[in-house]
Amino acid sequence: MNIEIPVERFAGIRTPFYYYDTNILRQTLDAINTEVKKHDNYFVHYAVKANANLKVLKIINEAGLGIDCVSGGEIEQVLKAGFSASKIVFAGVGKSDWEIELGLEKDIFCFNVESVPELENINDIAAKKGKVAPVCFRINPNVGAHTHANITTGLAENKFGIDMQDMERVIRLAQEMKNIRFKGLHFHIGSQILEMDDFIALAHRINDLQAQLEAVGIQFEIINVGGGLGIDYVDPLGNPIPNFKDYFSVYDKHLKLRPGQTVHFELGRAVVGQCGALITKVLYVKENAIKRFAIVDAGMTDLIRPALYDAHHHIINLTSTSPRAGQPSPNGQLPTVNSQLQYDVVGPICESSDVFDKDIPLPETHRGDLLAMLSAGAYGEIMASAYNCRRLPEGYTSEELK
Ligand code: LLP
Repeated sequence: MNIEIPVERFAGIRTPFYYYDTNILRQTLDAINTEVKKHDNYFVHYAVKANANLKVLKIINEAGLGIDCVSGGEIEQVLKAGFSASKIVFAGVGKSDWEIELGLEKDIFCFNVESVPELENINDIAAKKGKVAPVCFRINPNVGAHTHANITTGLAENKFGIDMQDMERVIRLAQEMKNIRFKGLHFHIGSQILEMDDFIALAHRINDLQAQLEAVGIQFEIINVGGGLGIDYVDPLGNPIPNFKDYFSVYDKHLKLRPGQTVHFELGRAVVGQCGALITKVLYVKENAIKRFAIVDAGMTDLIRPALYDAHHHIINLTSTSPRAGQPSPNGQLPTVNSQLQYDVVGPICESSDVFDKDIPLPETHRGDLLAMLSAGAYGEIMASAYNCRRLPEGYTSEELK
């Protein structure tokens, strides 16, 4: 099944906006559950940082997933969507006091702790509240991921986690604290990872660390391997559902568990990436001697990934399908590709990085055409900003536009 974009239902909706195909979302969730149900000790916590749209969250909650939060705001949002606090893992290198208080008050499943000062602070706050905080330590496994440098997190040079050589000392410290309960280890090596070897390397690193800790008498229940499974941005129509089978079987094959241990996953992009598209209207088409530009009403404020990570989002024209086969461009100079015209799709923001894609083939495109930028369900709507005093894009699901 492919993403379906019913352009006939978009009349009267202000562009740009995000459109979510709930069939794709539900199918993705089914594919995850099919794999996870093979193991009674696997738990997926959806990484809400990828998309916190309430309508999307409710569907994810209905599918029974847990949730991974990185801020108090996210905790509030997922509770609003109906998630149980007992399924929340709370990560982040800089948790504020009010966020820790909120996590404790709601009795979340686990805090993923990234430093000793943070651990001490959680212990103090928990003591004041008469609570015991369940804690996993985020360990920096120094495992590289073959992905964009801005979204690699598991290397020693990154700010995340506790160094492996400090792990034992920090766990001992936690075990002596009255208001902390040490539960396990947490990892996350990066995002948009398509090479299963990276996850295999992580599993092997976890095995080594577990053996080291066991040798000094330290045992634990939780292994949280983070998220990071990538999606196909190049061919989203041909490949709308990520390869969850291969992903989960990496851990099945390579991660050595002790009796009673549970494995936790924090998938974000792979859950919501392919169900979303940014719909934008072409404002103007202009040409100069070397380029043809489609200037659209969405900007980097609505979808920042191309500007920030050089990300590619496949763009299709929803309203014009007619190629101008064999005809020269209006000024007779610009090339055609597979009898389509070649465009730079750019936004209205006064920044040269406000470019969605360059030299891409599209059917002849006119003012008023609607374009869809695919694979925009993850880190799209949620990363929108109001720079230039622009309005934030709305998000609609296929169900509400019926
Ligand atoms: N767990 C932790 C600790 C994380 O830091 C992240 C993502 C995830 C889970 C979820 O990763 P995923 O399964 O979505 O790859 N804005 C960037 C991605 C930043 C990812 C940050 N951390 C982008 O648009 O590509």
